[in-house]
Order: sequence, then structure tokens, then C-alpha cells
Amino acid sequence: MAELSKNDEPQDATPNVSDVDVVEAASEEASVAAIEATVERGEPILQVRNLVKHFPLTQGILFKKQIGAVKAVDGVSFDLHQGETLGIVGESGCGKSTVAKLLMNLEQATAGEIFYKGQDITKLSGRALKAVRRNIQMVFQDPYTSLNPRMTVGDIIGEPFDIHPEVAPKGDRRRRVQELLDVVGLNPEYINRYPHQFSGGQRQRIGIARGLALNPEIIICDEPVSALDVSVQAQVINLMERLQDEFNLSYIFIAHDLSIVRHISDRVGVMYLGKIAEIGSDEQIYEHPTHPYTQALLSAVPVPDPEAREHRERIILTGDVPSPANPPSGCHFRTRCWKAQDKCAEEVPLLAIPERFKASDTPASHESACHFAEEKDVVHAA
Ligand SMILES: Nc1ncnc2c1ncn2[C@@H]1O[C@H](COP(=O)(O)OP(=O)(O)O)[C@@H](O)[C@H]1O
Ligand code: SF4
Ligand SMILES: [Mg+2]
Repeated sequence: MAELSKNDEPQDATPNVSDVDVVEAASEEASVAAIEATVERGEPILQVRNLVKHFPLTQGILFKKQIGAVKAVDGVSFDLHQGETLGIVGESGCGKSTVAKLLMNLEQATAGEIFYKGQDITKLSGRALKAVRRNIQMVFQDPYTSLNPRMTVGDIIGEPFDIHPEVAPKGDRRRRVQELLDVVGLNPEYINRYPHQFSGGQRQRIGIARGLALNPEIIICDEPVSALDVSVQAQVINLMERLQDEFNLSYIFIAHDLSIVRHISDRVGVMYLGKIAEIGSDEQIYEHPTHPYTQALLSAVPVPDPEAREHRERIILTGDVPSPANPPSGCHFRTRCWKAQDKCAEEVPLLAIPERFKASDTPASHESACHFAEEKDVVHAA
């Protein structure tokens, strides 16, 4: 077992709860009113603070004993602004889908807060929680398994109306579903067909139509194009961008590959073993990464320009991702980091703007959870 240090506990990362305009609603009605309020473009709509999800590891059949925990999400903080797309990237198993499920209230957080328009949704119930659930929707990774094969497309897209009939009363549903089919570029006459009669790209369009049915404000897209052919990926991403403008949506777009999210994201957060390693604008992350993990991921992204390709340095990461049931002490990335030093095993690096860049206004001045954060020209290295 890896040695533990006192700094292994999830720590406060920046930004912090103190910078959230917390809405303490006195009644359920006040909660619903706060949830239905409009947020100006560019203002925070979702603020995640120190979010933790540990799954208990148990032993025994009759008398289950907890012998540890899978630290799937281990202190994650970020903001989503109204109208933007935040990309979340990281290798398989780093906790991306668990973050998505926590935001959707499909999993209960072990600790931390998720503020939607200033209200902590981990503590809501009743009508207020129902209103949040209507406003935050999800599009899943695999269009082959996420659609019920025995339901018609019309029933799949219209199913959310069963829980929220106020959005489309019974007599109006068919027309509303046909409208949604049209919006995602499918023939409204396909309403009675079954999922197997569609291609992968078309099925993901059906998943998107279902996600739009309740007029949400936020859509969490969990690897929505990972299962699709490259040529179809671009079409689906273009559709999502068009819908974002048309319906004023904010997106969290999850992917395991930095190249997919670049086109669509305004900001990107890079995750490693339950934590955010680095987060910043598109330009900061792709052109001026300061975290060794981001630099390694970027060095593996194919570069179309042959000259840049010839001169660039490829960083090969050795070793496997450690188990989230037993992450390394200090920096979770230290067992694979070529820059690791003693300090990295002893102290958890906080997600913050590194001291050396604080006073400057260079693009390197963004949040990075590394004791030795510095720029490295991974893509255009001469
Ligand atoms: N319900 C669960 N019970 C136990 N462990 C889980 C559960 N869901 C996810 N995990 C574990 O949590 C870690 C993060 O998983 P996940 O969030 O699915 O990662 P990603 O989406 O980045 O691939 C993995 O080690 C996974 O096995
Ligand atoms: S804190 Fe240390 S181990 Fe972690 S990324 Fe930075 S240099 Fe590498
Ligand atoms: Mg996943």
C-alpha cells in the first residue's frame, strides 16, 4: 500500500465556496423561483465545489464489511458559464462519467456542493429538485445501448413528457416530437420507427432530441461521439454547436481525447485519477499547458502539419494509471510523471494559478495542479 501523508485528504481547491453567491431559499416556492430565474450569458450557471464520490469496497457475502473505497471523484471544483462549452478530458476510469452522474443527481455525492444558480442541488428535494432535473439533461455515449430497442423513436423522445407533462400536454406530444426530429435533422415521418432502423449517427441525433425535449438550460454530453465513425463525429458536433446557439444552451462535453473537444470547447478541464489537473481557456490548455499530464496528452494528438510533426517532442507516459482505490500519495500523477520530485509524494498540489505566473498576464497564468508547473512547447518544439 502506498504511504499516506496528512495531505492526502481532499483539499480546498480554487475556486472556493466563498466565491459562490449562495441562494438560501426560505421555501420550496422560493427555491423553484431561483431555479427558473434567467442567468446572463457568461455568468456562472453551475458551480461545483470540492466534489467527492467514493464508492465503498466491501468484502463478504452475508456480513458485508467495508475494506476500502474507490475514489472515483476526489475533490473536483469548476464553474460552467451560461452559453459556454466546458470540455472535460481524461483517460478512461479517471472519473468523468461519475462527475456527470453527480451533476445529474443520478449518484449521491460523498462530499462537496453543486450550485445551480446559487442553490446546492445536493440538498434539494421535491418540486425544486424536479425543476433542476428538467433544466439539466444528459446525452449518453453509446447510441446503441442507451436507446430502448422495443420503443418507437416517438416514445423514446417523448418519454420525458411523462414526468413533466407541463412541457407538452398529451394532445400536443406528437407534434412536439416531430418538431424535435426536425430540429436534429431527422425526417419527422420517422416517428414510428425503431432504433435499429437508424445508423449510429442518426441514433445519436435521437438521443440529442430526447435531451432537448424539456427545453433544458444545460446538457451534459458524456462522450457523445466516441462510438461514432470519424466522419459522423463532425456532423454530430456541428449539430450540437448549432443547437447551442439556437437554444442558448450551456454544455459540459466529456471526451477521452483532447482533439475531439478542441473544436467545440470554450474552456477545457483535464482530469486525472479523480482530480482536475489543469483547467483553462481553449488557448491556455492547447497552446500554453503547464501541467505535465496535459503536455503528455497533447504530445500524442496527431498534428496535420508535417513540419510541426517532425520537430515536435513526443512524451511517452510509462506505466498504467494507478487504481483509484489506492491512489499515490501527494500528486496522483507522480508515478507517471517525468518531473516528479520528493515534494510530489509529500504534498498534494492544489488546483490554482502557479505562483510564478500569478503576476503576469501570459496565457500560462491559469489553474494547474502541479508543484513545478511550467510551459513546454510540446506541439511546435524545435
Ligand atoms: N457504481 C460504481 N461502483 C464502484 N466503482 C465505480 C462505480 N462507478 C464507477 N466506478 C469506478 O470509478 C472510477 C471512475 O469511473 P468513471 O467515472 O466511469 O470513469 P470515466 O468515465 O472517466 O471512464 C473507475 O475506477 C470505476 O471503475
Ligand atoms: S506535482 Fe510533481 S508529480 Fe505532479 S505533475 Fe507536477 S511535477 Fe509531476
Ligand atoms: Mg465514462
